[in-house]
Amino acid sequence: MATPWIAPSILSADFARLGEEVDAVIDAGADLVHFDVMDNHYVPNLTIGPLVCEALHRRGIKAPIDAHLMVRPVDRIVPDFARAGATYITFHPEATEHIDRTIELIREHGCRPGLAFNPATPLDYLDYTLEKLDLVLVMSVNPGFGGQRFITSALRKLEQVRRRIQAGGREVRLEIDGGVKVDNIQAIARAGADTFVAGSAIFGSADYGATIRAMREQLARG
Ligand code: DX5
Ligand code: ZN
Repeated sequence: MATPWIAPSILSADFARLGEEVDAVIDAGADLVHFDVMDNHYVPNLTIGPLVCEALHRRGIKAPIDAHLMVRPVDRIVPDFARAGATYITFHPEATEHIDRTIELIREHGCRPGLAFNPATPLDYLDYTLEKLDLVLVMSVNPGFGGQRFITSALRKLEQVRRRIQAGGREVRLEIDGGVKVDNIQAIARAGADTFVAGSAIFGSADYGATIRAMREQLARG
């Protein structure tokens, strides 16, 4: 399995000091910067868009940006995120009319496509898409807010996605998002995740480095 990646979600960062917060979390050992985009339409919250992504990219941050789009429609905004320096662009299948077209669009713009599954979204959407994806995102909360409790059925879902990825024979990142903490990350990894989004667990802690190290220690125990 791929090297585990920790992806702090900047949704829980101090937005008034966003650049410093992102530098701090990367210095603390983050592998990926998880960038939550919400539109007050597909999800009941409103966050940040391509201009903020571009500002972070221009700042020269030293980790790839993992743009998680919780917006509808998706296609209009994809080129903007590609230009703004996103590496991964992940979207929800319910939020686009033509899933395959959106995946192609992300790829055409030089980014890595990801597909996100809400807690009650069936995995059938992977039937004809997995071979074109670089990432599958399993939501372990309903999208829209940080600091929610982990929904345990996500573990079963991770196991099922991991089996599909293995059967497919291509490297595809399996990301978990929502309620990830030091005390459940090991069980989540055992279920098959290799990419761990954590917002409140990291940004809500006094020492980002200590929290990320504690997560890695749990992961190393296997
Ligand atoms: C929720 C977002 C998550 C959120 C996770 O819609 O997609 O990335 O920031 O926050 P925590 O880790 O606090 O559950
Ligand atoms: Zn997210």
